[in-house]
Amino acid sequence: MAFVNLIKNLFCIYLNKIQFSKYFNKNTKLSQIGYQEVKNFISEEMCDEIINYFKPLEKEKSYKNNDLIYIKRKQLNMGKYKVYDLNTSQFFGIQRNNFLIQKLIKDKKIEKLFLENIGINLKIDEVSLMVNDPDNITRQPLHVDTFYPTNFKFFVYLTDCSKKDYGPYTYVKKSHLHTIRKAKSILKNFINRRHLPQMELEYSNDEADLVVGGKGDGFMSNMSGVHGGYHDHKEKKRYMLVFQLSREQDKYSPVSDSIN
Ligand SMILES: [Fe+2]
Repeated sequence: MAFVNLIKNLFCIYLNKIQFSKYFNKNTKLSQIGYQEVKNFISEEMCDEIINYFKPLEKEKSYKNNDLIYIKRKQLNMGKYKVYDLNTSQFFGIQRNNFLIQKLIKDKKIEKLFLENIGINLKIDEVSLMVNDPDNITRQPLHVDTFYPTNFKFFVYLTDCSKKDYGPYTYVKKSHLHTIRKAKSILKNFINRRHLPQMELEYSNDEADLVVGGKGDGFMSNMSGVHGGYHDHKEKKRYMLVFQLSREQDKYSPVSDSIN
């Protein structure tokens, strides 16, 4: 079974390459590097309003309240694999709970940004709010979300993340175009009985860009590129919105490691 999974994932890398490579010709950072910043996507006041709405809803344990799902990561059971992001919690379904998020979706600004910068019509599948306490031990290391089909995310820092100590997102530039290195990584994981999407046996943290940003800044990201949380988040609690997007024709499947 594990061997079938290995072959399936290797094929997915190839399929992703032939299906999506036509989109990487635009002269934009998202197309060529794999991620792209959007300065001042929302105002600082709006950031505070969103945080203030959800802050009282943070609890010690995971819960579900109507459409809102709160996951305290330390309770996640990842089966035989190592558990990451123990100091992280996440609200799912916030598009059904908060009018500011509903307004952002209604504006269609995010879909327009992707269309302009990579030429793909995307739909928003899920919106979540991620809350990260400082963590220099269990932060999710370099990985990919999917091998096929490519999914995309739009992130918005609701708190200042302008320094590496504040735990920025990290991304290996141009890794959305890599096939051989990802295939090598999968093989190494297979041999070492590791989770296949993990990439840290092939890629090092030193290769990754730190995607720093101010409060209210957004950035688009191709999630088939190699990315992760910053391994040495020392200061400040980080609040970040995560918009999950996919092509109209691709069936959305919630990603278990939707962190970062
Ligand atoms: Fe990820």
